[in-house]
Amino acid sequence: MQAQIDQYTAEINAFSPANADELETFRIKFLGTKGIIKDLFEQFKTVGPEEKRTFGKVLNQFKQLAEAKYAELKEATESGPKTKDLELDLTLPGDGFEVGSRHPLSLVRNEIIDIFKRLGFVVAEGPEIEDDWHNFSALNFPEEHPARDMQDTFFIKKNAGKDDIALRTHTSSVQVRMMEHGKPPFRAIMPGRVYRNEAISARAHCFFHQVEGLYVDENVSFADLKQTLYHFVQELYGEGTKVRFRPSYFPFTEPSAEMDVSCTICKGAGCNMCKYSGWVEILGCGMVDPNVLENCGIDSKKFTGFAFGMGMERIANLKYVIRDLRLFSENDVRFLKQFQTEML
Ligand code: PHE
Repeated sequence: MQAQIDQYTAEINAFSPANADELETFRIKFLGTKGIIKDLFEQFKTVGPEEKRTFGKVLNQFKQLAEAKYAELKEATESGPKTKDLELDLTLPGDGFEVGSRHPLSLVRNEIIDIFKRLGFVVAEGPEIEDDWHNFSALNFPEEHPARDMQDTFFIKKNAGKDDIALRTHTSSVQVRMMEHGKPPFRAIMPGRVYRNEAISARAHCFFHQVEGLYVDENVSFADLKQTLYHFVQELYGEGTKVRFRPSYFPFTEPSAEMDVSCTICKGAGCNMCKYSGWVEILGCGMVDPNVLENCGIDSKKFTGFAFGMGMERIANLKYVIRDLRLFSENDVRFLKQFQTEML
């Protein structure tokens, strides 16, 4: 009996439950109504009076040890994550996860689309690989126009004129596709990537992004063009932003103009961004040349229209003061992280 008690004592001292179930098994084994202690007390009844005196004490000590061990473990189980099962504290806050941020060009594009959508413009898209007709000829580019020169255009197939295939140099090609395949009125903007054969530097890149716009209907006038763009600028850069139009030239518009806005950084007082002139150019525009309308099968006696085109990088520069164009395409997270994060 002594040997048995010694063995149980060692077992109890070494016991360390992995979870509450193991502790319960322990309780049933030693302290349960059919447990070891109950059994030992039954045996105790049968021993002689001599042994009773010694064993009575030993047995009682053993019982106290088992009860104390159980009480101690029970308390530990209930009060804290001491056993393996309870190492996971469900009340702790979860691991945070990083939400990405939008690319500054996407932010600007979405904002431009939003403004024009409210004016009833839809979004139109077209291919980045274009034929000569959609990128140049339909847009009234004379054969010998310098913009067709290899210096500006990335040609994929060069067959001297008509069959040329190139990376589009502007999204005006989407205007042609739209007019060819539909009937006026047209009121759309065309955001997209365009390519020009330029050496990459802080101020020029071989690809960039444009948003062009087209509005064709009966009686569309230059006044509509001015008012639409004026409204656009007030929405984009805030009430009170001034605009001015300077005469310009594009093969596909007549008359043509470039539009400046009062510098968004210094509000016209003069700064680095506007080269101390108070004005920055943001887009080209004009009335769609009747030749272009006719090239696309639209009666230029009945319909008139205006078009405009702007570089998204320029718009983003003026909003976020980004002075190096290369940042837009390098995907440096330290740069990208700085822009507004939207909930996914
Ligand atoms: N397509 C011209 C460009 O790429 C911009 C423009 C569009 C100008 C429409 C006038 C009208 O520079």
